[in-house]
Amino acid sequence: MNNQTLFPLYGKDKQADAPQASQVETPTHARRVYIETYGCQMNVSDSELMAGILMQSGHQTVSVLDDADVVLVNTCAIRENAETKVINRLTQLNHHKRRHPDLIIGVCGCMAQHLRDKLIDAAPYVDLVMGPDAYRDLPIALDSLARGVESHVSMTDRDPFVGLRLDKSEDYADIAPIRKEGIRAWLTIQRGCDKMCTFCIVPFVRGRERSLPLKLLVEDVEKLVDQGFKEVVLLGQTVNSYHDNDADFGDLLYAIGDVDGLERVRFTSPHPADATDSMIDAMANSPSVCKHLHLPLQSGSTEVLERMRRTYTAAEYRDLVSKLRERVPDIAITTDVIVGFCGETDAEFQQTYEMMADIRYDSAFMFKYSEREGTLAHKALPDDVPETVKGERLKQIIGLQEKISAEINTATVGDTVTVLVEGESRRDADKYHGKSDGFKTAVFPKADSKIGDVVNVRVERTTAHTLIGQIV
Ligand code: 5AD
Repeated sequence: MNNQTLFPLYGKDKQADAPQASQVETPTHARRVYIETYGCQMNVSDSELMAGILMQSGHQTVSVLDDADVVLVNTCAIRENAETKVINRLTQLNHHKRRHPDLIIGVCGCMAQHLRDKLIDAAPYVDLVMGPDAYRDLPIALDSLARGVESHVSMTDRDPFVGLRLDKSEDYADIAPIRKEGIRAWLTIQRGCDKMCTFCIVPFVRGRERSLPLKLLVEDVEKLVDQGFKEVVLLGQTVNSYHDNDADFGDLLYAIGDVDGLERVRFTSPHPADATDSMIDAMANSPSVCKHLHLPLQSGSTEVLERMRRTYTAAEYRDLVSKLRERVPDIAITTDVIVGFCGETDAEFQQTYEMMADIRYDSAFMFKYSEREGTLAHKALPDDVPETVKGERLKQIIGLQEKISAEINTATVGDTVTVLVEGESRRDADKYHGKSDGFKTAVFPKADSKIGDVVNVRVERTTAHTLIGQIV
């Protein structure tokens, strides 16, 4: 769960592309905008994009809700509880609006695209509903809503501004996102999804797949390095189906890995069916590409995978993992698993359990199937596994994975891992934290290191999720 606010980096000489005063078109009504982000890293990246669009048109982002004329909630639709969380937050924001009657409340992103009119019915106080391909219209929307506020049209009589067109040609390539200063930058290399997994709402809320040009992405990374970032995480719904004319994802990894001054490249999330030799080669051979692959399994049963339309069998997935471990020694593999998908029998669930026990993932995100209106499964397959059974199955695989993660971590005691120093430990001001190459959190005394350094840490002890040690 990410939930962060963004603020401008003006004056800190970090945002080379930040519009200069002379370039900024002054809008009729400059607004102070508070952006709140729910869901995945793609949403974090989209919020940075929204901030870029707003700043380019003379608006300002703020880091405190009380300072805002506009609050934009960037939302997730992947599971029902993601939407419930936002509905609850909107209720709170409506209370806030009672004290600040001119506050404009906008709902952006996947849930806006998914619920459409239903969102306006459920939360009639929402002024703006905008999907992921319509952010370019934010300045127009804020201008028109501000005119409503100034002409004293009562809140309930104002029509909300609705932007829900999906547009395969929209890649926001010309927009400079406004990022929080830091070590790790998110970079969207692809938008939308063409895979059509039956459980998944993403293709319906983010539209068709499109990749950004390789040359532009390399230039973006060069700028990020100039701004002080040390690590870039490439983002796409099926990030490894990236292509730009003849260049594929492996070519992109090599090109970005070669950028001077960049310490690390990561990416999320790949699709097993697109795990080509070219991707595996780049992971094995480009020194800056991290040896960590988040490879969503979803189910260990070929029958369930078929119902999910994942386009690989359980055996093909196992073969892929063997090949990765052979070609990329010490690779860390993590995954996503769904239990209780339509028609999942005890025997089919058992195959998932066994697959997880055999593969021994470093860590896993595990979910109960949540039926999403509009998906192929919603239209064609009954959501027939009882909630209690889903809960029991989830508990079983969480127990298994916790045990495996702890065992894998314990086995690293005595090893030395390379860590990119990210920041001060929340619990101890004398310590830093950072991620290992395999994306494990490490905590260690600062010694002479500073944020942004790459240090070697000898692991002395571990918890289920953390490596604790000393710089050597
Ligand atoms: N129900 C439960 N989990 C889902 N995911 C995607 N759609 C659903 C759904 N309808 C999970 C998948 C995916 C991750 C991002 O979320 O495991 O990989």
